Amino acid sequence: MRKNIIAGNWKMNTTLSEGLALAKGLDEALKGKTLKCDVVIGTPFTHLASVAAAIDTKRIGVAAQNCADKDKGAYTGEVSAAMVASTGAEYVILGHSERRQYYHETSVTLEAKVNLALANGLTPIFCIGEVLAEREAGKHFEVVDEQVRTALFDLSPEDFSKIVIAYEPVWAIGTGKTATADQAQEIHAHIRKTLAAKYGDVIANDTTILYGGSMNAENAKDLVAKPDVDGGLIGGASLSVEKFLPIIEAF
Ligand code: PGA
Repeated sequence: MRKNIIAGNWKMNTTLSEGLALAKGLDEALKGKTLKCDVVIGTPFTHLASVAAAIDTKRIGVAAQNCADKDKGAYTGEVSAAMVASTGAEYVILGHSERRQYYHETSVTLEAKVNLALANGLTPIFCIGEVLAEREAGKHFEVVDEQVRTALFDLSPEDFSKIVIAYEPVWAIGTGKTATADQAQEIHAHIRKTLAAKYGDVIANDTTILYGGSMNAENAKDLVAKPDVDGGLIGGASLSVEKFLPIIEAF
């Protein structure tokens, strides 16, 4: 069964005490509510263990925003998938466009990260999406196909079925410009078709495909009402309970 997920991506925001307060506030706000989606928060590495210990991780899953493309060893400053898993985090956001753009992550490194995440029992939230020039040139379908194919299509069907996809058009991230619900549905349906061609209808239908890019309390309802939009990956609006909660309740 396909899962609905609303995931927050805090990016490089909040000190440890601010992050703990945000996580506890959300945990408190969700207590006793029956939700139609799973909730995940993607915190900085430094917060993972404290956040996971401070909240009910059955209610809110914890995600890292990245992990290393190497298992362990002399890679100063890197954080491995095993380290992430040892904090109590269950998810890892991989291939975010900011990582691709500013830290030059390629399909080769991303494939290694996905493999290590899976080997350590983490659920990858794998981000794909086109830049504005690609959308304007009508190349967005090709771009997402290539991103999925090069980093994920060597996975076994069993491993692939553990992946969550997040479609995030780069032109919509942090810009206040959202893809319309119809634009999101169109490309999500396309992505699902690409997955079906490789892994078959059953796995494709069970794959959670999130939308990301300026999702907020106002546009969330229309987006998640679309049949192929299974939730969202939310940046800015995940940084306050007040803004994040209505998105969670949009289902
Ligand atoms: P945004 O970020 O909601 O602030 O646009 C989304 C993301 O980058 O995951």
